[in-house]
Amino acid sequence: MPDNTPEPQAVCSPITRSAIFIVATLSPGAESAAVVRAWCADVAALVRAVGKRVQGGNLSCVCGFGSEAWDRLFGQPRPALLHPFREFGSGARRAIATAGDILLHIRADQMDLCFELATQLTGRLAGAVAVVDEVHGFRYFDMRSMVGFVDGTENPVGNQAVLSTIVGDEDPAFAGGSYVLVQKYLHNMAAWNDLTVEAQERIIGRTKLSDIELDAAVKPSCSHSSLTTIEEDGAEVKILRDNMPFGQPGKGEFGTFFIGYARSPAPIEQMLENMFVGRPPGNYDRLLDFSQAMTGALFFVPSAPLLEALAERRPDGSLSIGSLKSASESD
Ligand code: HEM
Repeated sequence: MPDNTPEPQAVCSPITRSAIFIVATLSPGAESAAVVRAWCADVAALVRAVGKRVQGGNLSCVCGFGSEAWDRLFGQPRPALLHPFREFGSGARRAIATAGDILLHIRADQMDLCFELATQLTGRLAGAVAVVDEVHGFRYFDMRSMVGFVDGTENPVGNQAVLSTIVGDEDPAFAGGSYVLVQKYLHNMAAWNDLTVEAQERIIGRTKLSDIELDAAVKPSCSHSSLTTIEEDGAEVKILRDNMPFGQPGKGEFGTFFIGYARSPAPIEQMLENMFVGRPPGNYDRLLDFSQAMTGALFFVPSAPLLEALAERRPDGSLSIGSLKSASESD
């Protein structure tokens, strides 16, 4: 990342023990938009205030905006690649698009920190948004996904994580930003558990206990790890995932909240196409025979300074009176 890139939000924060994912829609009316814009300037201070209460709690929050909401809230300029969620697949095997204007991805090593921050952040949005989905995710043993395999192993780390997720010179007005795609999956665990471990391993493409990639000679081209490995000009294109298991055993609900960050929506969409349609078509991801996508939404995550500055934007592209005043006072 070049030195002059604005500070990103906590996109590349390390994986934590707990997370809360909140997806909300913006309520009608100019007043609702004004409340959300003003809130943008408060997010960082709220994260600091709540996070301070537990040293080493690793509290962070990433906040993103959907395509239509961006226009209603902030107008032009807009992130070059932000668009509504694109659907893939057909019939029962479909990556569906669902409503979502604002995403909050709250992470910490203790659920109380996530809970308190979610309370503070949503409290200030009361009346201006409607929460359409809220998922409380937890770490499952040694980073197991709900289907029992270790999740996140092939995530990029360090510089590669930043290079894979943070917008650079390709869109200078939005450098330091990121794109994030979320989907809430529910699994048919009874059917999944009826498979032998070997059959499950061929579906994921890794061994279950030891989390080692299957040998190329035996790993099917329709395995989850094969279909989500993509290349451009001979180089692998990575995304950063921070999936979390969630559920309510008493209600038979067993889920995975998928969250993928990248510097463009394109690689995540290519992975979805490979999984749901197949590569080549028909050679689809068998994990989807046991998993149904219940939601799907795409967001842009502004850099940390841009998030704060968005409080002064108006959908007609003008700045608020307050920011003009303070600019002329400092002249
Ligand atoms: C049903 C929900 C999902 C579950 C339970 C799941 C689980 C897993 C597991 C267990 C692995 C192997 C370990 C690892 O490298 O992380 C994996 C790898 C991966 N998954 Fe998923 N995943 C899900 C959905 C998705 C979706 C929707 C995408 C992309 C749109 C995706 C992208 C990837 C990628 C890029 C890898 C690494 C592939 C590699 O480099 O080998 N996953 N996933």
